Amino acid sequence: MMDTQFLTIDPGRLDAPTAVSALQLAAHIIQQGGLVAFPTETVYGLGADALNATAVARIFAAKKRPFFDPLIVHIADATDLPRVARDVPPLAQQLAAHFWPGPLTLVLPRNTAVPDVVTAGGATVAVRCPAHPVARALIRAAGTPIAAPSANRFSHTSPTSAQHVWDDLAGEIELILDGGPTLVGVESTVLDITEETPVVLRPGGVSVEALQAVLPQVVVRRQLAPPGAELPSPGLLERHYAPHTALWLFTGEDAAIRQAILETARAQQANGRAVALLLAEEDLAFFAEGGWETAVGQTAVVGSLNDLEGVARRLFFAMRQLDRLEVSLILARDFPPLGLGLAIHDRLARAAERVIEAARVKGA
Ligand code: TXA
Ligand code: MG
Repeated sequence: MMDTQFLTIDPGRLDAPTAVSALQLAAHIIQQGGLVAFPTETVYGLGADALNATAVARIFAAKKRPFFDPLIVHIADATDLPRVARDVPPLAQQLAAHFWPGPLTLVLPRNTAVPDVVTAGGATVAVRCPAHPVARALIRAAGTPIAAPSANRFSHTSPTSAQHVWDDLAGEIELILDGGPTLVGVESTVLDITEETPVVLRPGGVSVEALQAVLPQVVVRRQLAPPGAELPSPGLLERHYAPHTALWLFTGEDAAIRQAILETARAQQANGRAVALLLAEEDLAFFAEGGWETAVGQTAVVGSLNDLEGVARRLFFAMRQLDRLEVSLILARDFPPLGLGLAIHDRLARAAERVIEAARVKGA
């Protein structure tokens, strides 16, 4: 265990003396091979010098992450791509021009300057240029690309606030930079452009629709493999992003979802099981009419079905909030797979112990 420092930076005032000194300290820690958690626009990252294998190995130890799961390398500008990738195709430049800085990660042929521990020994490297001012200032100040997974314990819910990072990693890392809650709330979209057909390996902060506007031939890798199977992106492990409390995900038509959640909640409660709900605003009237008390802190309302960006922003916060309650089961509604809804669905499905097709439960 070590003492973890916690410093707050206002992302809009990077020239404030406290911000300048915090960034100097953070850059120094990175240069010395230490670990710094920092905000990006998606989730908080746990950073180390991407070109220092010993430093990067410490990330895996702090997170208890298996070495077969490769890391994303963060750069401050697209012009730094050749430092970590090679044979950068024109398509990468084109995508960078459209989506960087921002929540798009590109899988490219790896530059040999990047150590094996970053790429899990693979021939490719995942790279992104984050949009958060603190992240970019840190990478620039450190003067090196920064390898960073999400700053949570392996397979736990990704952190959208510095407090989340503290809860998971205090005592394991040198410094946490607090830049406030993150804006996007789900991780970046991982896009593999090393093969003929560009493939989305993980849906995320850049929607598939936005990618399609630039890249009509893009496909989404939908098939989730069983845990332990060999995967092009080990982030596709089925149980991931999981709260400690069991979560059941309800899919289907809105009316069927509501009915099934209410019936399941009642049945579980009758069995003496304390239940929490993860719902959309539009669900509340139904539960109120059904006599279910949603105003007691056992229900997280993550936003409107018409505002999936807002839902994405609040999703991990809500999952961690419900996880802290004295309940043994979380019942969550699914969201339509449009725009950021695809990433929301993906994270909920991977957090879920069971995925329940609502119509079936209704008749059961
Ligand atoms: O938004 C994000 O991407 C955040 C912030 C901190 O940038 N980072 C993040 O990192 O989510 P992590 O390690 O939690 O997820 C990285 C994903 C994993 O699914 C990993 O398997 C995949 O990217 N990945 C990394 N390198 C890869 C590679 N060379 N080929 C295919 N997938 C790769
Ligand atoms: Mg992660």
